[in-house]
Amino acid sequence: MGGAAGAELYEAAYSRAVPGGLRPRVNARAKRASPIYPYLSPNSTPIATFHWAILGLGKIAHSFATDLQRVEDAKLVAVGSRSQERASAFAKQYGAEHAAGSYGATFDGPRVDAVYIATPHTSHRELTLMCLERGIPVLCEKPLGLSFAEVTEMIETARRTGTYLMEALWSRFLPALVEVKSMIDSGAIGQVESLRADFGFLGEPREDFDRDRLYNPALGGGALLDIGIYPIWLAQYIFGAPESIHATARLTELGADIDTQVTLRYAGGELAHCYSTLLGITKCDALILGSEASLHIHPRFHESRGYSILRGKDVPPENHYHAFEGKGYLFEARAVMKDVRAGRTESAQWSLDDSLVLHRTLTKVRELIGVRYPGEPSEDR
Ligand SMILES: NC(=O)c1ccc[n+]([C@@H]2O[C@H](COP(=O)([O-])OP(=O)(O)OC[C@H]3O[C@@H](n4cnc5c(N)ncnc54)[C@H](OP(=O)(O)O)[C@@H]3O)[C@@H](O)[C@H]2O)c1
Repeated sequence: MGGAAGAELYEAAYSRAVPGGLRPRVNARAKRASPIYPYLSPNSTPIATFHWAILGLGKIAHSFATDLQRVEDAKLVAVGSRSQERASAFAKQYGAEHAAGSYGATFDGPRVDAVYIATPHTSHRELTLMCLERGIPVLCEKPLGLSFAEVTEMIETARRTGTYLMEALWSRFLPALVEVKSMIDSGAIGQVESLRADFGFLGEPREDFDRDRLYNPALGGGALLDIGIYPIWLAQYIFGAPESIHATARLTELGADIDTQVTLRYAGGELAHCYSTLLGITKCDALILGSEASLHIHPRFHESRGYSILRGKDVPPENHYHAFEGKGYLFEARAVMKDVRAGRTESAQWSLDDSLVLHRTLTKVRELIGVRYPGEPSEDR
């Protein structure tokens, strides 16, 4: 997959004025009463509680499950792990009634209205396809797939089956970042010229390399897909799809990128500088330069609670602060619930076209820095 099909999908996405994305589509199949979309049955009363499942019970699954407890009309009902013991312990901790010792068996229990896929990057494609083919709406962790080819296949499957799919780019749903975009679109800083964003931390390699999803290329390891995705996402959020892409990186002996600089240029000449590193802590700052002012997104920008507009050294900064709830994942969870309940098959805020554009950029960057995952033929990216 990828190749011609991917290019065609991408061209269509590009021409639909990214980052506005697609208008949400309503799933006609879902509108006829289906067990997956019971809210939409014409004769039934709306179901108050939205049933979630989680696959892969690691670090981020705990954060998401903790946040779900704060969403009034949501309940975690099923969890799936490669280990029955881990599934049972997790289910007990968060009150899920069904604990499965395999991902497939997760759906053998109560009704599931959406599943959150929280496994390493390398299994996102396979698990997403499994769920989509069963008609189960999917919120899949970032990166949606390992490559443009994988993402193309996942999106085609979602569209063919008429089943909801969204990449869990949670930052897109944070109130502060939603407002940053509308401030910029309203001309609050004038003509936007450039952006600089960084994301770095000291990533200690794990002793059990087989589970080291940061450094092990077989698990999609490297800075780019783990954290570099955020600055590049921010650039796309502000400027849309890039016209040209330049990148340089330092790689480990096994070929994972650990220190990666990406420069993007846009149709109007605008520039974005995106840096990610596993070699040290950075401020995780984002600064957007406009012709009348600059906008500083408070660090860490991908989980920001506010921003400041800077008009010059003699003018006090205009500070804006926003509500933040839980760990920040409940904003995306609520967005998915709203979409699925409305019968939409993708998000208007972070559409499948948006993911396609993002993954085209990420895959081009990998080509430029020479990162190829095991088993990945160069022409299939
Ligand atoms: N949105 C965010 O802020 C954020 C933050 C961190 C990570 N993430 C994303 O979330 C995903 C998971 O990250 P994480 O930090 O939660 O990873 P993690 O702690 O290693 O957990 C991943 C889980 O996936 C399952 N798994 C399936 N195949 C595996 C394999 N071959 N090796 C290791 N684990 C495997 C395991 O659960 P079972 O043993 O229960 O099956 C494991 O606990 C990644 O794609 C990452 O990019 C997002």
